[in-house]
Amino acid sequence: MFTFPSTRLRRRRSSQWIRNLTSEISLSVNDLVLPLFVHNNEGTIIPIPELPDIKCYSINALISIIKEAKALGINAVGIFPVIDETLKSENAAEAYNPDNLICKAVHTVKSAVPDIGIIADVALDPYTTHGHDGILQDNQIKNDKTILIVCKQAIALAKAGCDMVAPSDMMDGRIGKIRNALDSQNFHDVSILSYAVKYCSSFYAPFRKIVGSSQDHNIDKSSYHMDYRNIREAISEIEMDINEGADFIMIKPGMPYLDIIKTATGRFNFPIFAYQVSGEYAMIKAAANSRLLNYDKTIYESLISFKRAGASAIFTYAALDVARNLITV
Ligand code: PBG
Repeated sequence: MFTFPSTRLRRRRSSQWIRNLTSEISLSVNDLVLPLFVHNNEGTIIPIPELPDIKCYSINALISIIKEAKALGINAVGIFPVIDETLKSENAAEAYNPDNLICKAVHTVKSAVPDIGIIADVALDPYTTHGHDGILQDNQIKNDKTILIVCKQAIALAKAGCDMVAPSDMMDGRIGKIRNALDSQNFHDVSILSYAVKYCSSFYAPFRKIVGSSQDHNIDKSSYHMDYRNIREAISEIEMDINEGADFIMIKPGMPYLDIIKTATGRFNFPIFAYQVSGEYAMIKAAANSRLLNYDKTIYESLISFKRAGASAIFTYAALDVARNLITV
């Protein structure tokens, strides 16, 4: 049947136009979510050495970058707060302070740029002195105590105008509890993006340095983040979170976990998001800065791999760069 020389597959690759007509996967700006960091020093934009070319914005500066993202066609942003050390505590009370940095940022962005999706993490790590995503007692992360707090955090975020809350702490049962808490306050329209499959990964290191939760890289989240040797466990996590009321599922990190994305998208009729996390971006950027590879081309190829695996949306620090290129291509 398909034998050489009557069949020559290279004919399909012979020019750009035929490659475009036969391409199986495409990437559009509709697929991208831009993660952004916010701090409370009004009027300043601070470079982030851990993530070259990525910056941390004051609330006002955030508005202009989000307007730019919107103009490029980016539909949603994920905003992460960098919290002052003085506001961190053992019980993470600042997480549900309605006037905290992220609530102020969400509220301000929502009024200034109304038609962009705003996603915020529900997790305690930016607010705890020890950097864990949960309440630490007797050397253990307390699941149910943590849930009580993240529910309050989710409500504070919803009140501030957040469209989508994203629990990223991997506590058991938090999706159902957060859904109930939101519904009890009439936030039926606030959706939940569950980080259902969050692996215990070294690729988060730059992010942790930025939000100040790294504790010199010694922090061990393996009692709640998933063991990266497991696939079936990921399926159980997704099943449970869908049953508890998740609207969207996140898998994270991205590139080292394309098999998990592929398995999940094949198995669930559900939108699966993926996160190209800080360490993934940092590796590509560092290699590009050393002129070992081409940044734009490598990022594009990496994001196509997420689409091949079936991801519907991708969080990537490169979203602005990619959106700019997609428009000019
Ligand atoms: C917070 C959170 C983390 C990331 C997103 N939300 C860090 C962590 O869980 O330690 C990592 C994102 C990245 O590395 O870009 N729970």
